[in-house]
Amino acid sequence: AAPPADAPRADLGVIGGSGFYEFLTHAERVPVTTPFGDPSDDLVIGELEGRRVAFLARHGHDHRFQPHKVNYRANLWALRSVGVRQVLAPCAVGSLREELGPGTIVVPDQVVDRTWGRAHTLYEEEGPVVHVGFADPYCPHGRKVVVDAARAAGKQVEDGGTLVVINGPRFSSKAESRWHQQAGWTVVGMTAMPEAALARELAMCFTTIALVTDHDAGVHGGEAVTHEEVLRVFAKNVEGLKQLLRSTLAAMPETEPDATASCPCRRALDGITLPAP
Ligand code: ADE
Repeated sequence: AAPPADAPRADLGVIGGSGFYEFLTHAERVPVTTPFGDPSDDLVIGELEGRRVAFLARHGHDHRFQPHKVNYRANLWALRSVGVRQVLAPCAVGSLREELGPGTIVVPDQVVDRTWGRAHTLYEEEGPVVHVGFADPYCPHGRKVVVDAARAAGKQVEDGGTLVVINGPRFSSKAESRWHQQAGWTVVGMTAMPEAALARELAMCFTTIALVTDHDAGVHGGEAVTHEEVLRVFAKNVEGLKQLLRSTLAAMPETEPDATASCPCRRALDGITLPAP
C-alpha cells in the first residue's frame, strides 16, 4: 500500500477543499491507497517557497463524501505515507459565542468529540494496544504559526477555544446548541474528529483552522442554520482562507521542530513499536 520509493514526498499536509492547492508549483496528482482503503481523493503534491506540501480534498474533488462518510483513516495514513509530519486542517464551523461572527478564524486548543459510528482508531484490528495521549489535541507550534499569520494579515482571529464536533450531517437543535454554549465550548463543526485523533495516532502534528460561517441555532438570536448560508459565507471567505494557508505554510519552520520541544504530537508513539506507514 505504500507509495513507490520514487513517489513525490512532502513534509507539510493540508486537508481542505479542492482548489486550495492552486498556489503550489510543480504540483502533481499522486494516487495513494492505504490499508484502510482509498483516501477521499488523490493527493496533490507540490512546492511552496521551498516547502514540500501535500494537499488532500477532505470531501473528494466533487464533494462526494458527507462528514460522517469521509475515510479519515485513509486520509491521514495517505498523508503520513508520503512523509507528512505537520497537518493543517481548515474547516467550516458554527459559532457558539455571540462575539465570534462569520468570517472569524478560530484556532482551537481543545476539542470535544460527539461523533459516533466513525472509524476512530488505526489500531483496532491487530498489533499492540495503543492509547495515545490527547490531553492537548492540537500542535502548539502549528497553532502559533497560524495565529501569527492571521494577525499579521489583520484577520479577526481567536487564539484558543473548544471545538465540539457533532456527527451531522444535520445541524444542532437549539437545545443541543444551548447545551454546547452552556458547557463553555466555542465553535461547532462536523469534520474535525476523528481526524485530529488519527493524526495523533500517527504522531503527526495537527492544527485545525476553523472558519466561522454562522452563529449556531439560537446563538446571538440566530434562527436555524442553513446549508446555503454556510456555503455562501464560506465562498465569501475562501480567498482569505487560502491566503492564510499560503502564509502559514510559508512561515512553517523549514526544519523539524526540536525533538525535545514541548510538542505532544511527535512523541505520541514514543516507546511503542509499530510498523511505520
Ligand atoms: N459547519 C458550519 N456551521 C456549522 C454549524 N452551525 N454546526 C455544525 N457544523 C457547521
